[in-house]
Amino acid sequence: MALITQRPKGTQDVKPDEVYKWHTIEKIAAETAECYGFKEIRFPTFENTALFKRSVGDTTDVVQKEMYSVSAKSPANGKDPDDFTLRPEGTAGAARAVIENGLLNEALPQKVYYIISCFRHEKPQAGRLREFHQFGAEMYGSSDPSADAEVIALAKSLLDRLGLDNVELFINSIGCPTCRAEYHKALKAYFESRKGELCPTCLDRLERNPMRILDCKSPICQDIAKDAPVILDYLCEECSVHFDKLKSYLGSMGIDYKINPKIVRGLDYYTKTVFEFITTDIGAQGTVCGGGRYDGLIEQLGGNPAPALGFAMGLERLIMTMESKNAPFNQEKKCDIYIGAMGDNAQIKAIGMVKALRDHGFLAECDVMGRGVKAQMKYANKIGAGFALILGDNELESGKANLKNMMTGEQLEIEINDTFVEKFTYIRMADVLAGELGV
Ligand code: HAM
Repeated sequence: MALITQRPKGTQDVKPDEVYKWHTIEKIAAETAECYGFKEIRFPTFENTALFKRSVGDTTDVVQKEMYSVSAKSPANGKDPDDFTLRPEGTAGAARAVIENGLLNEALPQKVYYIISCFRHEKPQAGRLREFHQFGAEMYGSSDPSADAEVIALAKSLLDRLGLDNVELFINSIGCPTCRAEYHKALKAYFESRKGELCPTCLDRLERNPMRILDCKSPICQDIAKDAPVILDYLCEECSVHFDKLKSYLGSMGIDYKINPKIVRGLDYYTKTVFEFITTDIGAQGTVCGGGRYDGLIEQLGGNPAPALGFAMGLERLIMTMESKNAPFNQEKKCDIYIGAMGDNAQIKAIGMVKALRDHGFLAECDVMGRGVKAQMKYANKIGAGFALILGDNELESGKANLKNMMTGEQLEIEINDTFVEKFTYIRMADVLAGELGV
């Protein structure tokens, strides 16, 4: 029984009384992205496994250890088995969608954002889940460092708008294939000297992609990696100039940053700029945002060559950080009015009035539990109704009822005919205004 009443390890439920936190972030993220000219893109939760192997890279932890891959039992074409993977991140799927839909033939740069669920089979801990959610933004078509600055500025603006001022920006450049070749040689030489201590996965990486040893999660490999050569010492002229210009642009935008030559990111597609926003407020998993440039990916996936860059933020980590800072979330909508009823005729009237109120955008409620009027009012209190009104035979006869302001206790006689919704609109507006002005 436990199996069907317990959620899978590393996943989370969001209860109805917590969901407003998600709405806050999703709304502010979308609004901020739109100010920067990004438009929403949607793409499938699963893709062909080959897409992730090719883009994220088959020597990364994500591909080697963390992907949820499934084979369709009866292949659609009757021949090759379909091999799909639940997306571990958004960049690959977004790039595939952009290529497939010909968006790179339209005006450049193309700027897209997404809010998605992602899946990685990691060891769960606070801030590290197996199903998690990302807000991501990607820009295609510009190789200029001003694009890097703009993408970083978008991430920074969003963090600011969420009230997260205690998040530090770290930047690095991991160069292009030209400078990377020299760097790989140096790294290989370094790790060869400690070969006996590396984990089996990193032994394989030593041959195929020594940079991936730098983000191995094994504590021993991490310790060895501490003294490894850093890529910044190997940048070619073009990559150095690109990085310097980015720094000037960030300076001009007033965005503080620190250079961390150890950031290499755990995904293979990056070139030149990489960055992370990190907070110390939520424990070990403090990276709330990661991103960078990936100039080779579109071509690698079969598109016409196009430089690109972007970032993604973990929504669970953003919520944790906001909670730790007591940053404000938009409050959930509260019940505007509860219409209680005594007797069958009153209930018929109440149901009609509630429908009319809802059609005008109010959150209106009436009894659907067959409760007595006392229990109805108890419920109205519990859900924090702003106003309440009780209908009985007298009210039906006179066509008037007492509208009670549940905060102040004030009562006002109001007609319960066709003018009711219009009159209630003014009363509610005045009440909201009074609340906002504190009168
Ligand atoms: P990433 O660094 O793998 O990059 O993930 C981005 C963010 O997602 C992380 O900084 C973190 O906040 C969140 N995240 C990652 N894994 C987990 C997890 N297991 N549980 C909770 N949150 C997690 C990417 O995914 C790239 N696609 C970012 C990017 C976009 N680069 C260019 N464009």
